Amino acid sequence: MPRSLMIILVTLVLIIGTGKIALTSENSCEELMNTKCTGCHYSNRICKKLTKKSKRKWIRTVKNMVRHGAKISKDELKEIVTCLTGPSPGITAWCKEDE
Ligand code: HEC
Repeated sequence: MPRSLMIILVTLVLIIGTGKIALTSENSCEELMNTKCTGCHYSNRICKKLTKKSKRKWIRTVKNMVRHGAKISKDELKEIVTCLTGPSPGITAWCKEDE
């Protein structure tokens, strides 16, 4: 393969690659769940409580998870609780995926 073609190819891969990272770092609800919540238990644990907890209870739950060792900042806690107390369409879809 000619060198210039190689360079174009590598550049393309880099652009596509970083574009993907930029997309996923937007902290969608599903992304938050996948990175913050499913390290210790299955989504099932969260999903079956989805419509059963008030906002205050979810705040308490997520704080509990932090006590268990979850790495969640104050901002993330707020985002997560917002995701869970709608519950947001993203979360509903995320739970469906796992049924
Ligand atoms: C560091 C490990 C860890 C992470 C990360 C974690 N959990 Fe948990 N979770 C646990 C443990 C341990 C239990 C069982 C003990 C308990 O019920 O408090 C649990 C239980 C639960 C329960 C069932 C108990 C209840 O209070 O209803 C829910 C719901 C839950 N987690 C939600 C979440 C959510 C939402 C996240 C992400 C923000 C999360 N967890 C992240 C460790 C974790």
